[in-house]
Amino acid sequence: MSFDKQIEAVRNSFRADLDSFSNEEKIINELQVKYFGRKGLIAGLFQQLKDIPANQKPCYGKLLNELRGKLSKEFEAKVKSTTEDSSTNKKEFIDYTLPGYRFPVGSTHPIQQTLDQMKEIFKAIGFNVGYGPEIDDDWHNFEALNFPPHHPARDMQDTFFVDQSTVLRTHTSNVQIHLMENKPPPLRYLVPGKVYRNEAISFKHYCLFHQVEGLYVDKNVSFADLKGTVDYFLRKMFGESVKSRFRPSYFPFTEPSAEVDIWNERRQQWMEIVGCGMVDPNVFKSVGYDPEIWHGFAFGFGVDRIAMLKYKIDDIRLFYQGDVRFLEQF
Ligand code: DAH
Repeated sequence: MSFDKQIEAVRNSFRADLDSFSNEEKIINELQVKYFGRKGLIAGLFQQLKDIPANQKPCYGKLLNELRGKLSKEFEAKVKSTTEDSSTNKKEFIDYTLPGYRFPVGSTHPIQQTLDQMKEIFKAIGFNVGYGPEIDDDWHNFEALNFPPHHPARDMQDTFFVDQSTVLRTHTSNVQIHLMENKPPPLRYLVPGKVYRNEAISFKHYCLFHQVEGLYVDKNVSFADLKGTVDYFLRKMFGESVKSRFRPSYFPFTEPSAEVDIWNERRQQWMEIVGCGMVDPNVFKSVGYDPEIWHGFAFGFGVDRIAMLKYKIDDIRLFYQGDVRFLEQF
């Protein structure tokens, strides 16, 4: 076949392929390779230039270049036109007046906000912040805090056991023992943390909650210091007009012991938010402090209760469900 005929044949085959063209990625790629690839039909024609008499070479070279340019333009135009009339036949309508998407910005969990605020209030009166283990042994969670084995006060704590002598701590009071075992008196510590209890879950009880423990040990610490400290905190946290009351109570690790309620105006009822008292001499003995020399007070705030009052939340479970609709309000 003459060179001219071969050129004509490529052109005709290309036209035929375009006529039966369908806009699929596979077909487009195949045609691309077939005509314009490195070993494609057009490259094949260029190959043959070497056998063309020298005086005709420039003329055929030009012809082939034009052919390649023309066919590839036609090919692109075909691909473009079929893409437009198949998928976006209707002109896309963009409504520029629609509000844009908001970036998903995280926020600080209300419990964490409450913890942060409590830390600031107590730091201002000289409390250090400390932490301790959430999985602990019977000694630190109970025994050193003057809960003898089989003491009925253990029942109040609804303990989750890891094994016979290891528990998920039922209160942050375990950290009192760790602190005193590791540091000589005097001490002034605040201990925020998670605690666990195997309780029936309801709007005011959850198996996990938060406490802020306080421990103040020095010479000449009195119950008046404890009362002054708790009152100071309540005024800072809830404002000068907060209504509170101290009630006598019982904890194995304090003597005397008290609980403090604050008045919940919205629900018209008292709400208990902290247990406290003077550190029991037996606790000092179990960590090797001399109770004749050292005195102290301790307290344990229920942080979830405080957050519920502060943010007017009626169900403790909301704190633990991770529902963005709830959390993004804080
Ligand atoms: N640990 C107690 C509880 O979880 C709260 C408490 C009471 C902590 C009196 C104290 C305290 O430090 O002195 O119920």
